[in-house]
Amino acid sequence: MTTRIARTTLTALALACIATVGHAQQGKLKVGLMLPFSGTYAALGVAIENGFKLRVEEQGGKLGGREIEYIKVDDESDPAKATDNVNKLIKRDNVDVIVGTVHSGVAMAMAKAAKESGTVLIVPNAGADAVTGPMCAQNIFRSSFSNWQPAYAMGEVAAKQGKKTAMTLTWKYAAGDESVNGFKEGFEKGGGKVVKQLTVPFPNVEFQALLTEIAAAKPDAVYSFFAGGGAVKFVKDYAAAGLNKNIPLYGPGFLTDGTLDAQGESAQGMLTTLHYADGLNTPRDISFRTAYAKMFKLQPDVYAVQGYDAAQMLAIGLAATKGDISKKAEFAGAIEKAKIDSPRGAFTIGKSHNPVQDIYLRKVEGKENKMVNVAIKGLADPARGCKL
Ligand code: PHB
Repeated sequence: MTTRIARTTLTALALACIATVGHAQQGKLKVGLMLPFSGTYAALGVAIENGFKLRVEEQGGKLGGREIEYIKVDDESDPAKATDNVNKLIKRDNVDVIVGTVHSGVAMAMAKAAKESGTVLIVPNAGADAVTGPMCAQNIFRSSFSNWQPAYAMGEVAAKQGKKTAMTLTWKYAAGDESVNGFKEGFEKGGGKVVKQLTVPFPNVEFQALLTEIAAAKPDAVYSFFAGGGAVKFVKDYAAAGLNKNIPLYGPGFLTDGTLDAQGESAQGMLTTLHYADGLNTPRDISFRTAYAKMFKLQPDVYAVQGYDAAQMLAIGLAATKGDISKKAEFAGAIEKAKIDSPRGAFTIGKSHNPVQDIYLRKVEGKENKMVNVAIKGLADPARGCKL
């Protein structure tokens, strides 16, 4: 009899313990925000954080029923510090999910660590083709783009405009190289020829010698990948050298997104391609822009949208697993099946976990990257090397 009572008590105790453990698992969800908060990409990191937090606030501060705790790391867009930074989040802070980052070189180190540890990673910008190519994994997602996507579209547009020769000038690292490759693929398929590829080391902004070389070579067009502070300086230098009058400067929309206040006159009339634009005028985009402006007293840009959509994707995965992010297959399955109701326009996530999305052609008018048309509808990254 006593034994039975003891056994019952023990069972009750064990159940209580399990319940406590269950409760602990459903405590706050730790989100590691690994982003650049200093250097040439600092403004991009802030916009991503803002966008993410806006979506969480819209959901009452909770995703999948769990309150959110943020742990922030400034990655300084420095690949040499990336492995240490991401491992601090995974091993010391024990985060449930990592959201980051902007710089492709840093993102590749993060993807490697995420793949090894199984921690969920959502990339809210960095376009490194490898992240949803050879490094693709069940627990790695991207809410932004691959470097190939807007670049390939710009190549097609430039060829359609009758340009025959182009020179490229970009930062020498994965994002610049892959952007140029994507442009070259689209441009040369359309009958154009990339005649010379120029680079400067990241994050240098000394362009004079190369601008002189472009002026002497007189290609039909120039294609460049720069972003943030570097894009401001480059677009201004290109115009100051008088090149914009005769040789159109093309690029992925990062060249003019979030930068127009500072670029002013120098960017007027520029054509770029991107998965977001001003003047979309959809109810979804208008409500997002109104809410963002109200919360941050700022106009949103593509980076804010990508942060917002990272939170939407996380919310979809957590809703399907009732807040239990360790249910990897259900978490991924829900995101793979979803149509994400983005301010950019609804998109889906391909098997490699990269957005399948419309790429817009935009033209700079005043302080806006005005939508001209859809350059390519529902463009999927080729996901070369991804075996999922
Ligand atoms: C990248 O490194 O992948 C990158 C950085 C800034 C951008 C776009 C891509 O605006």
